[in-house]
Amino acid sequence: MRTPIIAGNWKMNKTEAEALSLVRVLMQWVRSYSDVEVLICPPFTSLSTLYKLLVSSPIQLGAQNISDQPFGAFTGEISGAMAAEFCTHVILGHSERRAYYGEDNALINRKLQAAINAGLIPVLCVGEELAERDAGNAASVINHQIQEGLSGIHLGDPAKMIIAYEPVWAIGTGRSASPDEISDLIANVIRPSLSSLWGEKISQGIRVLYGGSVNSENAGGFFNTAEIDGALVGGASLTAEKFLGIIEKTQ
Ligand code: PGA
Repeated sequence: MRTPIIAGNWKMNKTEAEALSLVRVLMQWVRSYSDVEVLICPPFTSLSTLYKLLVSSPIQLGAQNISDQPFGAFTGEISGAMAAEFCTHVILGHSERRAYYGEDNALINRKLQAAINAGLIPVLCVGEELAERDAGNAASVINHQIQEGLSGIHLGDPAKMIIAYEPVWAIGTGRSASPDEISDLIANVIRPSLSSLWGEKISQGIRVLYGGSVNSENAGGFFNTAEIDGALVGGASLTAEKFLGIIEKTQ
């Protein structure tokens, strides 16, 4: 059985003070849920403070990005080792990084290597754009993102890798894919692609999340399907009530 994960991707939102007030509320409620992992991914500037606050809380911390380089003259970058001082996870390959910062599968592959070297669990985001979907290319785009992104990476423990299927047209748009479409894609594209890299047993153990306009109203439909192991939540992770409402739907 794969334990579900609800992950919040805060993107470029919340000052340190705002982060503290949100997390103080989450902390009070998260213990009332069982058999679910909760991960929040705030901006780098709040990680140190939240790490101290969350020391005895089950809420896990993730970064939203790391450099592919281990250290050195890379102005503005944060290494895997630096993120790992505070974080257990890191989001990589998010469609906003791919679209606005030119991250291709080769760079994402180097970042995945860097994350694993630093002991971080990657949350690798994959997903097709609307034009790719309309052209009938969703499966091949996603397969390439997985094969090229994870090329050369050895994985012995399925708990050390998370995949988030996020169709680009569903992110921040209020329009989500249907639970059946997502299940079909996970079962027929994502898991077979993972299986070709690491074998059937590992592929069945890897958590595959859905992301794209998840909210407390539609979350139950996703979590009731066997293939979807949780959600990567953007907008609805910025308000305690909304994020907790999604976690609640796993119970
Ligand atoms: P959204 O974002 O929930 O606001 O659609 C999801 C994501 O980008 O991870």
